[in-house]
Order: sequence, then C-alpha cells, then structure tokens
Amino acid sequence: MKIAIGADHAGVKLKDGIIAVIRELGHETEDLGCHCTDSVDYPDYAVPVAEKVAAGEADRGILICGTGIGMSIAANKVPGVRCALVHDLFSAKATREHNDSNVLAMGERVIGPGLAEEIVRVWLGTEFSQGERHAGRIRKVVEAERKYNPAP
Ligand code: RB5
Repeated sequence: MKIAIGADHAGVKLKDGIIAVIRELGHETEDLGCHCTDSVDYPDYAVPVAEKVAAGEADRGILICGTGIGMSIAANKVPGVRCALVHDLFSAKATREHNDSNVLAMGERVIGPGLAEEIVRVWLGTEFSQGERHAGRIRKVVEAERKYNPAP
C-alpha cells in the first residue's frame, strides 16, 4: 500500500520511527512533512494527507501531532476520510474492522514510540470486516457527509 504521512512539530520525532515501520512492512510512504521542530499548524499537514487519501493517491494516511486531536479534527473535514484517533491496540484493530478508517491519528505527547509503532502494525494489518451492519453504519456517515457537503 501507499501510505501518506504527516506531522506537526509536536509529532515529527515519532514520524521518523513510524516511516521506518511502514517500510519494514513492505509499504511505500509519502512524507508530506513537517521536517523541523519549529512551530507549525497541524491543519497544514492534516489536510494534504487527507486529500491524498480521499483522491485515491494514497491508500491510507497517518497523522501525528501532540495529542492527535487537532490532526483528526482537520482530517475528518475532508469528504471521504474516516480518521481515527487511536492510542491503544484494541481500538487500532476495531477501527479497521468496524469503521474502515482510512487515516490514523496519534499523539506523540500521549504515547511512546513502542506503542505507536505497534498500533501502526495492527492498523495497517487489519482488514475491514465487510459485515453488513458495519457497512450500513458507514453508509449513514457518508449520507451525513453529503448532507453538509453537497456536490457542487
Ligand atoms: C501543538 O502545541 C499542539 O497543539 C498540537 O500538536 C496538537 O496537539 C493539536 O491538537
């Protein structure tokens, strides 16, 4: 898979370790920054990563900031994106199986690199369950998205 990845200054350290894990798993990465520890704005990284996924130019996206919260809020504004904020292994698996999440957000100030890397392994390695009840719920999310983002 091709994985687009982005971080702000508060997530940039974790990003490098995550990129190494993604490559070790045999996936391709596209690093959309940031590349320094100067203060930057998380939407400037969340939106481009989310847009890559929504456009089908990346299969999945991974976003890291201090808490993961700003990144997930911003990414979920892009139609077609289902960004999950995850800090535990149970949620990493469940959000793929139940929500078919296509973007993962994490907070470098919340969890350590070991857990973050394990979350990435589980999240990338888990398929959507394809269960009709989960698919139906996702269709309802899409309906809500269309209601508030009508096609031009
Ligand atoms: C940056 O200080 C911090 O606010 C940001 O990384 C993130 O946690 C926002 O949600």
